[in-house]
Amino acid sequence: MWFTGLNFNVSDPEAFARCVEGIRKSISTPDHFFCSDNLITWNKNLGFLGNQRFWDTVRRNSTNNIELSIIWRTYILCWFARYAKAINGDFVEVGAYEGNTANIILEEADLAATGKSYFIYDAFDHSEKDINHAMPEHGPDLYNKVCARFDKYEFVKVVKGYVPDSFALNFPEKIAFAHIDLNQAPAEVGALRQIIPVLAPGAVIILDDYGWHAYHQQKEAEDPLFAEYGLEVLELPTGQGLVLNHYS
Ligand SMILES: C[S@@+](CC[C@H](N)C(=O)[O-])C[C@H]1O[C@@H](n2cnc3c(N)ncnc32)[C@H](O)[C@@H]1O
Repeated sequence: MWFTGLNFNVSDPEAFARCVEGIRKSISTPDHFFCSDNLITWNKNLGFLGNQRFWDTVRRNSTNNIELSIIWRTYILCWFARYAKAINGDFVEVGAYEGNTANIILEEADLAATGKSYFIYDAFDHSEKDINHAMPEHGPDLYNKVCARFDKYEFVKVVKGYVPDSFALNFPEKIAFAHIDLNQAPAEVGALRQIIPVLAPGAVIILDDYGWHAYHQQKEAEDPLFAEYGLEVLELPTGQGLVLNHYS
């Protein structure tokens, strides 16, 4: 089982490719090798890569190569989404963009069968004043596209506007699962200040950017906030941060 995908922050792609090839040639398990999303590892089972149903879900809901490259992050999200089905409360995706990850999660967890709602937040557009970077699909049409995408799922609530202010428009009473991916610290801290108090016992938060050095301001701003609630973030090799609400 081997897989290579996109890596970020590479300044010399040719030199990088030569080094990766050098690593593969120098290890005893070149057929058990993973190089994608800034993770290089070998001699691991990578069992999730052999799950055809999972691949089909990811491919069906992907609009570019990035979703395929971040497959390990998505595997972790889907695992915890299935776990959170047994937890009291709804699901939230804070920073949904086109809704690709949200769509993968709701299909892989079969959220339609749970009676839970899935709240999806984004500005869906970009202004020069925004701290987070612009993305290619940002614009006046994105909100309508995302609404149309989830139209068949009555339990999905697409909320347009700036987080955390947009939470006033529609927000769950209890949260079982939160995926937070805003690429900026102030709005994530604002979101977490409202999300943490309504976490159900056993609820999970996954912070997409927490372990990435490029977004270290998020870790620095969020660690003290979690500590106020007696919670600690587990930094994962994928760059995600994982929080389990072990309080009742
Ligand atoms: C990396 S994208 C999210 C990708 C998405 N989670 C996925 O996996 O498919 C980050 C998104 O956060 C949104 N965002 C950043 N700051 C925001 C804020 N304060 N309020 C609402 N949306 C925001 C951006 O518009 C952007 O679409």
